[in-house]
Amino acid sequence: MKQIIELIEAELEEAFEKAGYDRTLAKVTLSNRPDLCEYQCNGAMAGAKTYKKAPIMIAEDVVNYLKENVCIAEAEAVKPGFINMKLNEEFAAGFLNQMAADESMGLNQAENPEMIIVDYGGPNVAKPLHVGHLRAAIIGESVKRICRKMGHQVLGDVHLGDWGYQMGLIITELKKRKPELPYFDESWQEEYPQEAPFTISELEEIYPTASAYAKEHEDYREEALHGTWMLQNGHKGYTALWKHIVRISVNDIKKNYERLNVEFDLWKGESDAQKYIPDMIQGFKDKGQAYLDEGALVIDVREESDTKEIPPCLIQKSDGASLYGTTDLATLIQREEDYRPDRVIYVVDKRQEMHFTQVFRAAKKTGIVRGETKLKFLGFGTMNGKDGKPFKTREGGVMRLENLIADINEEMYKKMAENRMVDKEEAGNTSKMIGLSAIKYGDLSNQAAKDYVFDVDRFTSFEGNTGPYILYTIVRIKSILNKYQRQGGTLEGLQCLGACTDSEKALMLEVCRYNAAMEAAFTETAPHKICAYIYELANAFNRFYHETKILAEEDKERQKSYIALLIVTRNVLEACIDTLGFEAPERM
Ligand code: ARG
Repeated sequence: MKQIIELIEAELEEAFEKAGYDRTLAKVTLSNRPDLCEYQCNGAMAGAKTYKKAPIMIAEDVVNYLKENVCIAEAEAVKPGFINMKLNEEFAAGFLNQMAADESMGLNQAENPEMIIVDYGGPNVAKPLHVGHLRAAIIGESVKRICRKMGHQVLGDVHLGDWGYQMGLIITELKKRKPELPYFDESWQEEYPQEAPFTISELEEIYPTASAYAKEHEDYREEALHGTWMLQNGHKGYTALWKHIVRISVNDIKKNYERLNVEFDLWKGESDAQKYIPDMIQGFKDKGQAYLDEGALVIDVREESDTKEIPPCLIQKSDGASLYGTTDLATLIQREEDYRPDRVIYVVDKRQEMHFTQVFRAAKKTGIVRGETKLKFLGFGTMNGKDGKPFKTREGGVMRLENLIADINEEMYKKMAENRMVDKEEAGNTSKMIGLSAIKYGDLSNQAAKDYVFDVDRFTSFEGNTGPYILYTIVRIKSILNKYQRQGGTLEGLQCLGACTDSEKALMLEVCRYNAAMEAAFTETAPHKICAYIYELANAFNRFYHETKILAEEDKERQKSYIALLIVTRNVLEACIDTLGFEAPERM
């Protein structure tokens, strides 16, 4: 379906043209003075110069041609030259009913669905997930769902950090603690054990210990680097050990993502890209795309229009080791071979922006991806504590993801226990759902690139621009619909007739904006647009609710129309929170 605003714009284009003006002046926006009108067009002002006329005259001319049309009920020319408009109610009701009957609720499904890969999460094997990984997971999951909702074919790839120095550290530490293990026996000929020689908790202790030790002891660090090198060059024992590390760690990582309602289609890692590297590098050399700079192999990625220095993309160090960028380029080769994506979206900390600028340019320049492939970096800011510094535990340490989630759930549980009389089990489940909405909405309602303050009190509040407020609104609608059914009403085949009151019309208008909001969120890769939209929608609903007797309405036709409006409102809200990656309980 077209967006409401496009339909109004089409009417205005006609009117501009009939009045003798250029139709491209007919740009319509939501009104920034909702007390005066619902939509507005400032085209008359823009045209004043061309037509050497006072804007108000142009506006009046256009308004004259707007008298007879289906979607605008009132149009008014206002000084200095605004065209203020109100939507025709019947038209809005018709739009809403059409939306309600449509499978995708009026969303324009992509005509040529793209193959999109969303690269997000990026956890590092053997290191515990911490709050730094929270944003990647939350934003990436939402971006993936938004793309899917628009009808694209989307794959989420976790892109594990499973090939770096941390592996060498763990191997070195294990060798120190348990030198008798067969992985360190160079003459070992048999199969390696099926069981890992450590548990997840041991693993989590080993990494920080080794990392700290290496910082103090140069020889240990050298050994870890050498261990990394041996692993990367196919050492049998280390490879077997590495597989254990990855398996145990990934199991644990999966549990964490499950708690966050985050799901990946691909569990690929940096290691999967390694086999593409030798040929890739050879290709760069053969085609003269890379050159040696102080012994290192680099690709120049500067462009004429650059306003700041973009350093070359490092491909290989002088000792032959490949780097982060090498892996990302090789991963693009692998993706091109396996999926031929039209678009790859990277959801990563914005401090890595330069890295991705270099990688994207190198990929285009060397032809790893096609010229038309869209490579998009969605960089996110830092999640801060109330003190404005990166979020920490009360003791000042790095906050583990599972602890953060547990804290929020507990907070929600307490609030629920104060308010409601539900049994323990239900309260437990519901508080998890609401807790998740608090965390995710708290994050997603901010523009991704901005830093934000993780404020537990604010995020868990049932009032204001929060996840719990949105859920509360949905639950309120569900409860009305349930009561209506208990009173003998049915939810089938209802139509919205139009609005009796301002608040009803305002709610209808908000509901009708669904496709515009979702499409904007997709085009701009911006989940916060959905949050902003559902906050407005929830407010509009609550205002309507407070001003209207829905279940006590005596005019049964009127009541059916209300119920029809409630059903679409609920459906739109639920579709939206689904793209944010959380859901609403039945009651709370
Ligand atoms: N593992 C990386 C980190 O912790 C993030 C990976 C981001 N994705 C990518 N394709 N480089 O910083």
